[in-house]
Amino acid sequence: MQDGRTTLSKFLIDTLDRKPGPEVASGLSALLIDVAASIKTIAAALTRGALGAQHGSAHSVNTHGEEQKKLDLVTNDIFLQHCEWDGLLAGMVSEEMEHVYAIAEPYPRGEYLLAFDPLDGSSNIDINGVVGSIFSVLRRGCHQTGAPDDASFLRPGREQVAAGYAIYGPSTMLVLSVGNGTHGFTLERDVGNFVLTHSDIRIPDDSCEFAINVSNERFWEPPVRRYVQECKDGRTGCRAQDFNMRWIASMVAEVHRILMRGGVFMYPRDFKTPEMEGRLRLLYEASPMSFLVEQAGGLSITGRERILDVEPKALHQRVPVILGSRNEVARIQRYHSEYDRGEDKPFTSPLFKERSLFLPETEA
Ligand code: AHG
Ligand code: MN
Ligand code: MN
Repeated sequence: MQDGRTTLSKFLIDTLDRKPGPEVASGLSALLIDVAASIKTIAAALTRGALGAQHGSAHSVNTHGEEQKKLDLVTNDIFLQHCEWDGLLAGMVSEEMEHVYAIAEPYPRGEYLLAFDPLDGSSNIDINGVVGSIFSVLRRGCHQTGAPDDASFLRPGREQVAAGYAIYGPSTMLVLSVGNGTHGFTLERDVGNFVLTHSDIRIPDDSCEFAINVSNERFWEPPVRRYVQECKDGRTGCRAQDFNMRWIASMVAEVHRILMRGGVFMYPRDFKTPEMEGRLRLLYEASPMSFLVEQAGGLSITGRERILDVEPKALHQRVPVILGSRNEVARIQRYHSEYDRGEDKPFTSPLFKERSLFLPETEA
């Protein structure tokens, strides 16, 4: 670049298309440019706010039974329109679509699969708070040419070839990994370019900041209660330091803060809705965010296993998520193993040992 700046296209062409070696990720850079075009279009739509007449409920529910906002549907359509035509994708999966969206005539089918959450934190829309979009890219074998089905998408997160999110805050940023670190681009609105502003983001190994929805505390498992209690005890407790807490109700905004300055984000397993494994969706929330966090030197677990190793069983499967600064997440994982081995006596109340209060009536 003449002005010394790296645009998203230059970054992708340098990183993917001119990469030495036999495995050239053909078409991936072009696909990511289309994803970035969706994000720019969404950013423009969101900026109009209430003037865009797209606030409020769509008076429909998605496959999770959650109320859809008008903007959940608008942003979903923006992704479909920008990404379906280019001949690079075989199909798409989204939080807002029950089934796989297979690419069909008149568009040619390609070898990539895209899973996305078009609008994350959508409860923030009506309060003009921070929201985001999350995406994950898998590559199908080139011998697979038929219409993709659920099974095509049910692959562990470690197989992702790219993952990223957009954060629509005071500035719009695209944070991306194609497997060689996590990099942040800021949208230069008047020009329309994403410019590399945060190269090779590293999450600090240690942190004194945690994010969790404490209103669910009574439903958490003991290891999470133990960790949070120790944080709240501060410098007079066993951690001997004060902690700070944040909750933005948008995973994108929480993960972005952690990438910028460290911390831990938790949406753990709880017994509020016992039939659900967790709150967040594996394929288009937990998996891409875990890829970005690991590529930035952090850890991401369910509590008991690495999220990128979870074998998905359903398109809209949910998982517990605990991610962020390496040493804090490792500590929480240790608390889970100590609990599972019955070694954390001070935090094992009879209430939780019995668990009867937190299981569905049929199991109690
Ligand atoms: P979405 O808007 O895509 O449904 O996702 C919202 C998710 C996640 O981003 C956030 O961390 C969490 O839901 C917020 O949950 P609470 O309502 O419990 O705060
Ligand atoms: Mn979401
Ligand atoms: Mn969403």
